[in-house]
Amino acid sequence: MKRYFIKSVILFFACVASGLDTQAQGINNLDLVIETKIDSLLSLMTLKEKVGQMTQYNGSFDVTGAPSDIDARTKLEKLKNGEVGSMLNVLTAKATREAQEVVMKNSRLKIPLIFGYDVIHGYKTMFPVPLGESASWDLEALELSATIAARETAAAGVHWTFAPMIDVSRDARWGRIMEGAGEDPYLNSVIGVARIKGFQGDNLTDDYTIAACAKHFAGYGYAEAGRDYNTVNVGESELQNSILLPFKAASEAGVATFMNSFNEIDGIPATASVHLQRDILKGDWDYKGFMVSDWGSIAELIPHGFAEDKMQAGKLAVVAGSDMDMEGRVYEVALEQLVSENEIKEELLNDAVRRILRVKYALGLFDDPYKYSDEKREREVLLAPEHLEAARDIARKSIVLLKNEQTILPISKNIKSIAVIGPLADDKDSPLGNWRAQAIKNSAVSVLEGIKNTVSADTQINYAKGASLGIGERSFLMPLKINETDTSGFADAVAAAEKSEVVVLVLGEDAFQSGEGRSQTDIKLKGVQQELLDAVVAVNKNIVLVLMNGRPLDLSRPSEQVPALLETWFLGSEAGNAIADVLFGDYNPSGKLPVSFPRNVGQEPLYYNQKNTGRPSSNMVTYSGYQDESRDALYPFGFGLSYTNFSCGDPEVSDAKFSGEGSIAVSVVLKNTGKVTGKETAQLYIRDLVASRTRPVKELRDFKQIELAPGESSKVTFTINSKTLEFFTSNAKWEAEPGEFEIMIGSNSVDLKTVKITYE
Ligand code: NOJ
Repeated sequence: MKRYFIKSVILFFACVASGLDTQAQGINNLDLVIETKIDSLLSLMTLKEKVGQMTQYNGSFDVTGAPSDIDARTKLEKLKNGEVGSMLNVLTAKATREAQEVVMKNSRLKIPLIFGYDVIHGYKTMFPVPLGESASWDLEALELSATIAARETAAAGVHWTFAPMIDVSRDARWGRIMEGAGEDPYLNSVIGVARIKGFQGDNLTDDYTIAACAKHFAGYGYAEAGRDYNTVNVGESELQNSILLPFKAASEAGVATFMNSFNEIDGIPATASVHLQRDILKGDWDYKGFMVSDWGSIAELIPHGFAEDKMQAGKLAVVAGSDMDMEGRVYEVALEQLVSENEIKEELLNDAVRRILRVKYALGLFDDPYKYSDEKREREVLLAPEHLEAARDIARKSIVLLKNEQTILPISKNIKSIAVIGPLADDKDSPLGNWRAQAIKNSAVSVLEGIKNTVSADTQINYAKGASLGIGERSFLMPLKINETDTSGFADAVAAAEKSEVVVLVLGEDAFQSGEGRSQTDIKLKGVQQELLDAVVAVNKNIVLVLMNGRPLDLSRPSEQVPALLETWFLGSEAGNAIADVLFGDYNPSGKLPVSFPRNVGQEPLYYNQKNTGRPSSNMVTYSGYQDESRDALYPFGFGLSYTNFSCGDPEVSDAKFSGEGSIAVSVVLKNTGKVTGKETAQLYIRDLVASRTRPVKELRDFKQIELAPGESSKVTFTINSKTLEFFTSNAKWEAEPGEFEIMIGSNSVDLKTVKITYE
């Protein structure tokens, strides 16, 4: 544990020191020896072998997309012939060794396979789902969780994760909002970079590092109406300033690969977008790694109505810069013919293969194609105790305290009686979340178990499930059935509540309610949960509502019914222990929402960094709002309480003006005015008051976490320079425009203190 900690601290400071704008990191830092080796290998390759490198097959250990119809014998033959460059969903040291052997022993050029897998929040040890983990705002912890996930993944023979997802996501209806860092471009950028550094480490050739993948390029999180895979329509300003900002940071951090996305943007499917992939990524950003398609997204150019057949789809995708075809079965049928008929230049294939080989060399696969496939190491590394210890720590850092009236929390460990109620209270599976890789079913610590592990021997625990939530088959690909009718357990729940001093009620979502394809139009508590809450609150008002969910929920009614609300997302393997740490005060909650919680689903997409519009307010109806609901969030972006209180002084600036490449300092004094030690996150937002393209009313640009003892105060200082103020202007350049700016500092996106500065 100590070793990972030290490593992560070093990496963290290296990251902070270098900022987000370093060039030629990771895969972008070309090694001339490797480039020469690639040249000579390319000169030996046939067209078929080149197409092979650009082809990725599913291995069926895990099915993360629509299963294909290719039979095992054909697959084997293709591997032997060097017609496959990569496989996804081939897992374990043994299976990866076997598959690699097929290629190394039979293929002409013996180019090792690269194995990829969706390691989204852990391989076997589960960390909080990414949205939850992002609520920690703790870059060091986020990097460590990725470091450990990489360690387990590498030990299971896999070289490459399809993570992090850095899609800015502003619509709670979208099921995949659970998979990213929420609604803010800057937060997605710094968290994405922390995760990339965790996965890739300093050197991809290390035995325990894996290649990361920035996905989905681009716009996937902007699907209209939150409906997965749906159309996206944004202009260049929103594309560059919001959607692409985290991808630019990922490219600068040297992420080894990118994945494109299923959606179209402004009429062009991203997979076939020359503008996104060639002009911006490989052109403006000079990115040197490779682009894998999303599952079948090249073939999907046909149903998009953008390509007539596989030949045209293949041509459009390769011209646009999609280097590897994931399970699309397009490149293998189209590319050779397209080159021989002079429809495309072979140079396009050479470029794609060069990029793919570059990553394989960087991983050290040419030196030892089996280096990840070591069964002894696999047994030692997976679920190592120190991994679980780290999972518990980041889980508790991810919890957000939304409400705590009458200071019902923390609960005394010596309380005489406590009711633990709800469909998720003793659920050992949902805390594992969706996109759970190789987590063992039902292996998480439940809330009930966590509470039992924590309270005194004299505490009477009265448990009642109350009702079920997800019923029947629960799996990655199939729809989830929700219990809408069975309330037969209510009587036991009410009885448990009646005889207890405090009720811990655990409600929210089944793990399979959020994730890919899990869009919803209703984000209230599903099934009979609200009824259960009503029944319990009728007999005992001392309720701590513990929420598990992968998306913002509409909490408008529950938040009025209970004195305490704790947002716990899906916290992973150690969920119950981490939740108990917070419930009983062993950890003072410090999480902050990475996404706005609405009052009503009709407000979605809801995000703090909106534009002002020409009609921000009026005492008549003629303004940009709603007649039946307020415009603001129930719980805003950046919000989260603590068991202590903090005060924030007025911001002080070292100078009210600066120019060019100069900088100024802005400081606030934070004070812990409560009775226990706590951690606060000071958040810095800017507003560019007049600009060549309208700017949001607030934009997060920096944050700092600080721990303070009771009565302690400390000065927090931020540096403001042109980078802090820049955006993609009407000159189509990243630059800061002269003029007035508001600088706002505070504990969330609403409670802020403002100072004005001028940039000249
Ligand atoms: C489709 C998903 O969109 C993508 O994120 C994932 O990596 C692939 N399937 C592979 O499972």
